[in-house]
Amino acid sequence: MSLQSSDKRVTITTLNKMKKKGVKIACLTAYDASFAQVLDNVGVEVILVGDSLGMVIQGFDTTIPVTMEDIVYHTRCVSRMTKHAMVMADMPFMSCASPEQALLNAARLMQQGGAHMVKLESGVTQLETVRRLSEQGVPVCAHIGLQPQSIHRLGGYRVQGRDEHSATAMLEEAVALQQAGALVLLLESIPGMLAAEITANVDIPVIGIGAGVHCDGQILVLQDVLGITPGRVPRFTRSFIEEGKTIQEALACYVKAVKELSFPASEHTF
Ligand code: KIV
Repeated sequence: MSLQSSDKRVTITTLNKMKKKGVKIACLTAYDASFAQVLDNVGVEVILVGDSLGMVIQGFDTTIPVTMEDIVYHTRCVSRMTKHAMVMADMPFMSCASPEQALLNAARLMQQGGAHMVKLESGVTQLETVRRLSEQGVPVCAHIGLQPQSIHRLGGYRVQGRDEHSATAMLEEAVALQQAGALVLLLESIPGMLAAEITANVDIPVIGIGAGVHCDGQILVLQDVLGITPGRVPRFTRSFIEEGKTIQEALACYVKAVKELSFPASEHTF
């Protein structure tokens, strides 16, 4: 069951209602108009124009080379063709080095790209930025857990929050980000138990990737769902391409699996 009726745009109110009613939120990345239209038609509630485009569209081995121009361009391609889904745009590496810079760049994503929400890899060091953005009317999704833009500092794509100390810090970080004004949280590559605890302890919708089935919603990178990941395939992902006769059917199977809680399964969970 979805709360999305065919002629209505998904808004933060829709996502909040879904959390309250326990209706899972299905999200995917997209970077172009054709796929945006397909995702819109199969009932994806949130389309993320992620900086993963650096890896799956541009062929880099990290998200770090992605620029504001890249995200503005791809967000524009996606938002032009999207009628129902909320369009979320990623703030790329070094686009939020100060609250002022974040404000200018978020404004570009909304005004030039047509984004309805921006996502930033945030932590306690970004609380002031999240506060300033939200005070100025910018809807923010705060991305915590594994933050791919910090890959060289982290030393690899490792699961975060495994020990008690870092798990407690992450729970506190989630609550602080909500208090700073974040409207959505995105948890990447953390233990399923910790994600469940965070989801239960914040009022805002929590979207997971590699964070288990107890989040309020799930997101994956489109190319992973279609089984065409260039390079390493993360353990938490699943290809749905063989579950339909067409790409549209395969993507509809992903949405159904999220709604029915059959994805992610235990083999996709840390
Ligand atoms: O850039 C992206 O696609 C993301 C997802 C992995 C959540 O941030």
